Amino acid sequence: MNKSAKNPEKIQTMFSTIAHRYDLLNRVLSLGIDRRWRKFAVNQLVKSDNAHYLDVATGTSDVALEIINSIQGSKVTGVDFSEGMLELGKVKIRNAGLNDRIDVRFGDATDLPFDDNTFDGSIIAFGIRNVQDYKKGISEMGRVIKSGCRVVILEFTTVQSKIFKPLYVFYITRVLPFIGEFISGKKGAYKYLPDSMLHFPVPEELKKTMEEVGLQDVSYHKLTFGIVAVHVGTVK
Ligand SMILES: C[S@@+](CC[C@H](N)C(=O)[O-])C[C@H]1O[C@@H](n2cnc3c(N)ncnc32)[C@H](O)[C@@H]1O
Repeated sequence: MNKSAKNPEKIQTMFSTIAHRYDLLNRVLSLGIDRRWRKFAVNQLVKSDNAHYLDVATGTSDVALEIINSIQGSKVTGVDFSEGMLELGKVKIRNAGLNDRIDVRFGDATDLPFDDNTFDGSIIAFGIRNVQDYKKGISEMGRVIKSGCRVVILEFTTVQSKIFKPLYVFYITRVLPFIGEFISGKKGAYKYLPDSMLHFPVPEELKKTMEEVGLQDVSYHKLTFGIVAVHVGTVK
C-alpha cells in the first residue's frame, strides 16, 4: 500500500466522515467479535491499584470504557486526531457517568502530548495500521509509560490459513466495503479498509519493530483464525 493512502489528513477526514456510524459498523462487520478482541487486549495490561492507562487512537472510546470495566479503580486518558470520533466518545463517557475516570483529548499518535514515564500502560486498538510512521507511534507509546509497564497493540493481521484465507480476502475486499458503504452512506469510505488490513506487516515483522524501538519480552497472540493479533511488549 503506498504511503500517500495513509496521509494523516486523509485518515482524519475519513474517520470524521464515518464517525456517526463507526460503532454500528464495527459490530456488524465483525459479527460482534470486536468486543471480545478488545477485552482480551485490555487483559494484557499490567494491573495495579489506581493505575492510569493511555488509550492511543481512542476513537469512540470503546477501549477506554473496556479498561474501566475490567480494571477496578483505573483511570484512562484517550487521544485521537479525529474530532468527530472524539465527540462521539465523549457522549458515551458522559452517558456512562465516567467523566471523572476517562479523559479524552486531541493528540497525534506520533507526537504524544505527555511527559516520559507518565502512564501505567499504553494500548492501541485498530489504530496502528492507520499511522503513517507506525514505528514512531510505537516508540511514543513506550516513552510515555513507566518501567515494568506494557505496550499493547490490537490489530488486524493477514490470515495465513490456506483454507480460510480466500474466504477472508473475499469478505474484506467484496462484502465489507459494500456493507460499509451501505451503513455509513458514504461512497468509497470503506475502500481504504481492506487495503490497510491486507498490507499491514505480519505479526513477526511487527514484533521486530517493537523490539527495534526498545520494547522487551515482545510476544503476540493470534485470535479468531488469525484475523487479529495482540502484541505485547514491556518497558524495562
Ligand atoms: C479504526 S479506529 C479505532 C478506534 C478505537 N481504538 C477502537 O478500538 O474502535 C482508528 C482511529 O485511529 C485514529 N488515528 C489514526 N491515525 C492517528 C494518529 N496519527 N494520531 C491519532 N489518532 C489517529 C483515527 O482518527 C481513528 O479514530
